[in-house]
Amino acid sequence: MDELTWVEIKEESLRNNITQFRNIVGDNVLLCPCVKANAYGHGLAICGRIFIEAGADWLSVNSLYEARTLRDAGIKAPIYILGYVPLSALKEAVELECRLVVYNRETIDKLAEIGKEVKVHIKLETGNNRQGVLVEDLLEFAKHIEGIENIKLEGLSTHFANIEDTTDHSYAEKQLARFNDSVKSLESIGIEIPIKHCANSAATILFKETHFQMVRTGISNYGLWPSNETYVSYLKEMGDGFELMPAFSWKAKIAQIKNIPAGEMIGYGCTYKTTHDTKLAIIPIGYYDGYDRGINGAHVLIHGKRAPLRGRVCMNIIMVDVSDIPEAKLEDEVVLVGRSGDEEISVEVFAGWCGTINYEIPTRVNERIPRKLV
Ligand SMILES: Cc1ncc(COP(=O)(O)O)c(C=O)c1O
Repeated sequence: MDELTWVEIKEESLRNNITQFRNIVGDNVLLCPCVKANAYGHGLAICGRIFIEAGADWLSVNSLYEARTLRDAGIKAPIYILGYVPLSALKEAVELECRLVVYNRETIDKLAEIGKEVKVHIKLETGNNRQGVLVEDLLEFAKHIEGIENIKLEGLSTHFANIEDTTDHSYAEKQLARFNDSVKSLESIGIEIPIKHCANSAATILFKETHFQMVRTGISNYGLWPSNETYVSYLKEMGDGFELMPAFSWKAKIAQIKNIPAGEMIGYGCTYKTTHDTKLAIIPIGYYDGYDRGINGAHVLIHGKRAPLRGRVCMNIIMVDVSDIPEAKLEDEVVLVGRSGDEEISVEVFAGWCGTINYEIPTRVNERIPRKLV
């Protein structure tokens, strides 16, 4: 292998996680895994293909660019674009047969002008206050769409603001109530929406009443729990039976080994001074690759042993202390995230070192770094 660094994705884990979700939602709910942001850093085309093979029905992406990447990879499954598509790009989105989220008149008018059949899903604002039509504007907006022949109103969606950050789900319940009330209001004027959807991973795992006709699971397709709170709620309410398998690990190889005496400075800003004669390994990855410069208390794994970071993270290099790993040598494998022997750096542990959530860790690994299925 001639790469300096690469990501390994366990195919078995991806397939398992889709199966787990299928078991939860049953056969009558569409499974629409979220593969936006390069499949949360796991590789867009790879994950798109495997999820469909493993039994998913649709795929959801954030942008037209991602939809085009999936189509170019030969994926024919329905694609739902969750994010904004500029007016000038709508024609291509329609030609790629994407389903579109809609929440403004300009998009609808442009789709009407394009004139080709397109399926749209209204995004309803129930309390997240990001993109979405206000509840009070919904009926007018839906009626406007219904009056245009080439636009089919296929879906109504919303997104929870506070379902994974807490074990108190009252805010999510309020959002769900608003969503249900809006569905009733639409029905009262004769508008039936075939596909209603609001569930992300946490909602899908915890609340059957959020499944409706489709779920948009994200983080847990990759084997990660949305949060500790979701895991605790799951254990409290449901017990066991839902087994996620993490798919992601991130590796590199040693680019140099050298011995430096005690009292030497390491790296920019001379932030670290060796306290003993040190065997140092140079690892050719840095913040360009997505290894956070602000990381704190980190180590990597080499031959199943911990090698602590020394000095600052550089743009393309980190330095680690391998004084206690005498067998470490040039081009040995370095595990940045993942398992080595009996040691493991989970995505969650790494996220803790970076002061962030697990979502951000695989997602931030530079798209240029190869994703390899194992
Ligand atoms: C609109 C929408 N639906 C679904 C998801 C999937 O959420 P999760 O990764 O928490 O399952 C996201 C993720 O941010 C989203 O923005």
